[in-house]
Amino acid sequence: MTQRTLLLLKPDTVRRRLVGQVLARFEQKGLTIVAMEQRTITVEQADRHYAEHVERDFYPPLRDFVTSGPLVALVVEGDEAVDVVRALNGATDGRKAAPGTVRGDWSLSNRENLVHGSDSPESATREIAIWFPDL
Ligand code: RTP
Ligand code: MG
Repeated sequence: MTQRTLLLLKPDTVRRRLVGQVLARFEQKGLTIVAMEQRTITVEQADRHYAEHVERDFYPPLRDFVTSGPLVALVVEGDEAVDVVRALNGATDGRKAAPGTVRGDWSLSNRENLVHGSDSPESATREIAIWFPDL
């Protein structure tokens, strides 16, 4: 089933100049880029995006991280795109993520883990409305 999902290349991906290499994996997988923009987000936008996490202990440093510099936000589309993107991203903790995944190959952190992918079709709908309200 064709789906759309929100993919973020977080500020560490931009700072480390990995945007091209990371993006290539999603393109080569066969996903279609529907929208893509580099942005630096405000604290308010971070709080909206991470609404489910704002009360968690790990949120303040996560908020500082995602607002620390430009990131690249995308909507990608394809068959089962939600699960496909999360599989390519790998486990949340880069130290535990499998080799061959974005996080497994390039992250040694549970926070600075390069990418975000919506965790369900419902989350994708909510997040796409936040990031790309005109779609
Ligand atoms: P994401 O939302 O970024 O795709 O990552 P995820 O679903 O794999 O992980 P989630 O539980 O939604 O966590 C969101 C982001 O918060 C940071 N995090 N830090 N214990 C910690 O320090 C901790 N846990 C999570 C990560 O940047 C994670 O991607
Ligand atoms: Mg998540």
